[in-house]
Amino acid sequence: MILPLLTRKARPMQSPLPLRSGNPFERVALFPRPRNSGSRRPSRPVCAVNASCVLPRTTDDAIILSLFPGADLLGRGFEQAGFCVVRGPDRLLGQSIEGFRCPPGVFAGIIGGPPCQDFSRARRRPPTGHGREMLLEFLRIVAEARPHWFLIENVPGVPSVSLAGYRIQRFNLFASDYGLAQKRNRAFQFGSVDGLPLILRRTKSHFGRSAPAALAKDPRRLADVCELQGLPRNFDLPGLCPSAKKRAVGNGVPVPMARAVAEAIRDRRPVTLRLCSCGCGRVLDGPKRQRSATVACRKRLERGASSVTVSLFGAGW
Ligand SMILES: C[S@@+](CC[C@H](N)C(=O)[O-])C[C@H]1O[C@@H](n2cnc3c(N)ncnc32)[C@H](O)[C@@H]1O
Ligand SMILES: [Zn+2]
Repeated sequence: MILPLLTRKARPMQSPLPLRSGNPFERVALFPRPRNSGSRRPSRPVCAVNASCVLPRTTDDAIILSLFPGADLLGRGFEQAGFCVVRGPDRLLGQSIEGFRCPPGVFAGIIGGPPCQDFSRARRRPPTGHGREMLLEFLRIVAEARPHWFLIENVPGVPSVSLAGYRIQRFNLFASDYGLAQKRNRAFQFGSVDGLPLILRRTKSHFGRSAPAALAKDPRRLADVCELQGLPRNFDLPGLCPSAKKRAVGNGVPVPMARAVAEAIRDRRPVTLRLCSCGCGRVLDGPKRQRSATVACRKRLERGASSVTVSLFGAGW
């Protein structure tokens, strides 16, 4: 039953961005209400931590929205972990995120890898501002849709985001941590209303030589780029020309890495374990004074204070 959820009276948003009034979804009845059901609509569960976060009805309602999907390697990893993934607009299909609106309470989570060229160290030209704009578009949709959690994937140079009502965990993952022979380091930012941390499993280490990261304009064959990204070698995107296929696959998140993050989100629960303070999701098993899990974590903590933040309307309610 989608109607009760869509017609739930929303608390006024704190966003300075105007929300569209007269949302068409509010008047569309997909299922007629059964007779004698009374005038009261069954209400959707509301989060105990943040009353304006509308939770999915049950844990089985793990329907999530994937923004900037491209070939959606990220979403494919979530599907492998059991989520139902709905894909938002992408330029690849002649669509644009700017006009996209999302009613509150429909999606348990929102995932996406906004364009990363502006934040990439390999960038040759000065930033265009598009990367920052797209990050803000992502946050705008999260603020409208009010999911229980969101996940942003990008390059390590991406600014940290902040959004009122969400606690953010930031961490990096390497393709080699998931058995892939590729030098690829991705930065994730996980925001959640309940603040429960992700415990990340690095499933299978790859030792030995790694190939350079897959790129949008990659000179290697499509089958090779697919293998580096954890896709079957015969993976195809019918309807796209060969260079667009390679660009879409090269732009994606390695699928086993995406799956590991998805499983960590799926299996989240209150923990009594001590976790690394850098946000990487590693468990600390040393003495009580230990704060970081690895040397890289300690360096990340030392650098942490200097990160730039992109926020829609500040942290905290
Ligand atoms: C880094 S790729 C996403 C890769 C994807 N997460 C994956 O794992 O396969 C970024 C995508 O954003 C899309 N994009 C860029 N600007 C956009 C806009 N204004 N509206 C919609 N999509 C846009 C691009 O076409 C590209 O497919
Ligand atoms: Zn760490």
